[in-house]
Amino acid sequence: MQKATIHFDFEVYESIADLNAADRSLLESARTITSKAYAPYSNFLVGATALLSNGEIVNGANQENASYPVSICAERTLLSSAAMLFTNIPIETMAIAYHNLNGISNKPVSPCGMCRQALHEYEERTTHPIRLILSGMEGRIFIIEKAGLLLPLSFGGDDLK
Ligand code: THU
Repeated sequence: MQKATIHFDFEVYESIADLNAADRSLLESARTITSKAYAPYSNFLVGATALLSNGEIVNGANQENASYPVSICAERTLLSSAAMLFTNIPIETMAIAYHNLNGISNKPVSPCGMCRQALHEYEERTTHPIRLILSGMEGRIFIIEKAGLLLPLSFGGDDLK
């Protein structure tokens, strides 16, 4: 028997004021884009803004449904838009923020498992890491150098070969 360990490093910032101008602008946009969420069931409004490697910006916000499982997260609305508008163009950085109408919005957002899977596959298909800026409407910010780090031992296309 062997024991194995997986760990990853990430950056922690105390506030948006500590980010460089480019990252600050993406996060400000993600926070603004929370207003585009349709989240009447959870009242948890999520916004995402991505900078693509061609310089374009793509946004996403969660879109819920009375049939709850039909809902889609902000990250995956963004990925679908990016794939349609700018096919095969890698995403450099994605900022994600949320506005919790039921409570506080000051802890970095934690992308759900389905979005981690989708983000990682987007990295694989574009052979490019997606840098993540995770935040709420205020407070600390996490920056993770590639989305796949959030999905250790992931299942992917290679497993189907
Ligand atoms: N949600 C997102 O859009 N992204 C996340 O990273 C976390 C959760 C959405 C899904 C649902 O509409 C609401 O937030 C509450 O789970």
